[in-house]
Amino acid sequence: MTAVALPARVVRFPFPFPHETYRYSTNVEPAGARAVTAAGSWGDHPVDIDEYYRDELAERERILAADPSRFQALPHMDVAQWEAMTTVMRMLVDAYPDRFTLDRDGEQWRWRNHELGWDQSFAYSRADTLPDPPLRCLGRQIQEDVVLLDQREGALWGDAGLVTFAADWSLRFDVGMSFLQIHGPVPRVHEEGVIPRAQQFLMGLQPGQRYRRTNWTLTVDRRRDTATETYPDWGPDRRLLGEGPEAEVGDRLHLRVEVQHLIRLGASGAILFLIRTHLLPLVDVALVPEWAQRLHDVLVELPEDMADYKGVTRTRGPGIDWLREYAGVSV
Ligand code: HEM
Repeated sequence: MTAVALPARVVRFPFPFPHETYRYSTNVEPAGARAVTAAGSWGDHPVDIDEYYRDELAERERILAADPSRFQALPHMDVAQWEAMTTVMRMLVDAYPDRFTLDRDGEQWRWRNHELGWDQSFAYSRADTLPDPPLRCLGRQIQEDVVLLDQREGALWGDAGLVTFAADWSLRFDVGMSFLQIHGPVPRVHEEGVIPRAQQFLMGLQPGQRYRRTNWTLTVDRRRDTATETYPDWGPDRRLLGEGPEAEVGDRLHLRVEVQHLIRLGASGAILFLIRTHLLPLVDVALVPEWAQRLHDVLVELPEDMADYKGVTRTRGPGIDWLREYAGVSV
């Protein structure tokens, strides 16, 4: 099979498994370089616009209208919010010069999003010149969720964010917590030193430095909002998936991959954390035989405590069975 025959969503998918088994690690690498996969590549730009741009922005607006607490910003994060917004605007212009324009004349800025037909003039740091707080304005224009981490007292603090597509966590609950506290529920990583090492690494980032990592789980249906707040809406689907016909699993069960970027902002000293969620149903994973085999092998071997934490205890069985039955993987 050649990459040309595959749909863009597969060609561009950030397949996350370099090895036959998966364990937590401080898996960071420099951002901006193209990552090649068995189907194509991803990762040319830290902010990425794809065929789901308008759909995901509309979904974010619906989620925020129903629950404004998905946006959080402690008062001391104003400076970082402005810097994050303008930094990402520049990143968008660098990545897609025909779709975005940013002009500056002293303190007066003009932002144009040609994709959405936006034309916004604003004065830097002047809240009255924007319709919403900067992070909120940014969230209307990028598919990524955003967290801003303040660095002080030898630690990182998740003090602002706009997160509508959380994989089973809650920004409202986490806001104001330290990096170590935020990762409190994750098994293994504390004893193994993964999280303290990650924090040391992040605190050493120099202005402008950009790194990235991936994380993954399984999600039933194309549901981006799997926040703790909406658990009653999506949690039961995990159980029901196993009770439905096996043939349905390929369409309903999705490999969910987060591409996360970590960027040090120069003026505020904050760390900008971008989380981009990609969902690919198993039927599409199966278009790439190497991916089907690798996902199968990872799911079979994944230790119980990690499976439990990821919330895949009930879904990995049906996923493994489907991959064996319909994707021709070898056992
Ligand atoms: C090098 C940097 C990082 C590493 C190595 C790391 C590692 C991890 C790991 C291993 C998990 C468990 C994921 C899973 O099993 O699906 C996790 C979850 C999580 N991470 Fe990170 N992470 C990093 C950066 C960040 C940053 C900057 C934030 C910003 C707030 C963050 C917020 C979270 C949250 C909210 C969860 C879910 C925790 C929960 O269950 O409540 N991570 N992280």
